[in-house]
Amino acid sequence: TTRIYNFTISEVTGWPDGYNRTLTVINGQFPGPLIEVNMGDRLIINVQNNGVNMTTIHYHGLYQNGTNYMDGTYQISQCGIPPGSSFTYNFTVPDQYGTYWYHSHYSTQYMDGVIGPLVIHAQEEDDLIGNMYDYDQVVLVSDWYHGLSQGYMAAYLASGNENVEPVPDNGLINGGAYFDCSLTPGDTCYQQDANRTAFNFEQNKTYRLRVINTGAFADIEFSVDEHPLTLVEGDGVLIAPTTLHKLAIAVAQRYSVLITTNVTGTDNFWVRAELDQYCFATTNPVLVDYSITGVLNYVSDANSVALPYSNNITASTASWGDVPANLLCLDLNNTSIEPMVAMQAPDATVFYRIDAGFMIGAYAIDLAYINGTTWKPAFESNLYQAYRMLSPSLSSAVVDNNSTELLNTTGPLPLGVLGGDQSQYIINVPDYQVVDLLINNLDDGSHPFHLHGYKFWVMGTGTGVFPYNDYGDFNTTNPMRRDTLQVQAYGWALIRFVADNAGFWPLHCHITWHLEAGLLMQFEIQPSKIAQFQPPAAWAQLCAAQ
Ligand code: C2O
Repeated sequence: TTRIYNFTISEVTGWPDGYNRTLTVINGQFPGPLIEVNMGDRLIINVQNNGVNMTTIHYHGLYQNGTNYMDGTYQISQCGIPPGSSFTYNFTVPDQYGTYWYHSHYSTQYMDGVIGPLVIHAQEEDDLIGNMYDYDQVVLVSDWYHGLSQGYMAAYLASGNENVEPVPDNGLINGGAYFDCSLTPGDTCYQQDANRTAFNFEQNKTYRLRVINTGAFADIEFSVDEHPLTLVEGDGVLIAPTTLHKLAIAVAQRYSVLITTNVTGTDNFWVRAELDQYCFATTNPVLVDYSITGVLNYVSDANSVALPYSNNITASTASWGDVPANLLCLDLNNTSIEPMVAMQAPDATVFYRIDAGFMIGAYAIDLAYINGTTWKPAFESNLYQAYRMLSPSLSSAVVDNNSTELLNTTGPLPLGVLGGDQSQYIINVPDYQVVDLLINNLDDGSHPFHLHGYKFWVMGTGTGVFPYNDYGDFNTTNPMRRDTLQVQAYGWALIRFVADNAGFWPLHCHITWHLEAGLLMQFEIQPSKIAQFQPPAAWAQLCAAQ
């Protein structure tokens, strides 16, 4: 089956929490539409960019095996879609299911509103967990800022702001939240628009909540008062069911939890998305309550009630407070969660290490580095440069000498190699390998690292120095697989993946501020296969048009 979506990007004035600001949105709506497919489907997304900036759409967590050019990563897998132009994404999803999302991968644009959920259904998944729930519900949670991201980014990169990430003004649940407009006198904020999201659920049913952190910065603890959560999925991997009361979810991660609407005594419960404050350098004088709430209402017939938002609805339930620590907030990054479908991790054949952090003291600005290199978008997309050089059909095209270095180098590509003032760290994996990557986080904050095009095994995580003496002793029997992993402050993580998917795949911190400050490296997998790619002519034209 082919599923077709038409996305028109534009700027609008919006008020998700009552506070008016400019948003960049898809089809005039925020959050963007749900993309829902069955495994094996072809997905066509026609993007018309009527916004004022460049755009791209990235499908977070999708393998794009053989279609690296549809991965939607600005200046890595494609050149941007300029204002006034269009581009069609066209690819299949043959071999994965679960909860994903899509977002702009141009600069900080996604936090201005270019985001939405993407769900892949499959019989394989249904066979395993389909009988455990009655209904399916997407729950997007995020931090929220009251202004355009560009302004915050400029401030963040200005000298004197070292280690001071912009602090969110609020948070959202499915694009809604309460905000007290009296806290920002004189600003355009209408109290009657400050609406919480309401979930109207039938009683005595089990709901699958697909919780997706679509935010820019904050870790979130998600909970529903008086309803234990049964964790069954993380990043598209089914998990042996685990019960918890609060779900810790980092930026760009996804989890499915089951709740059963069988609590007696009241019909209204708070749904909470608590922004973790430990990562905030300062407290926001505006954001007085870090616990963002929605409301779960029990109704006799969910179809009879059309009440997505309301600022009148409240609940009086209490947050899980005095629960045992192991139920309060499970450390979902450690090896205590286990995939439902067991898979043995093969032995690694190559080992790489990156040291990731921020330059300290240099002009007191926030400059990220990975092995000494700060990412900046290249002059044109790296994949285009490589394809142009390798593809027989383009062999007469002008090839710049730097492409040779782009194709063959592992390590930092120094200033100038990719044109302009670019500097990128690229690990070249020329043939089939099982790759171990040790991520050393030299920073005092934790970072949700995301690898495009793959799921990796989480072989181990820890703080301090990686125990090289234990390398080889890590558990290979069914460790958790995922695409986004929180690496602790001054900690390390060892991830493993089978490098069988050709192309340029970034690994980056998903905190928008850090990504734009350059916390990104790339794997260049099996470049010899790039010549066999068959991107549409329109893809190359985006670069030619620049
Ligand atoms: Cu969700 Cu590189 O992105």
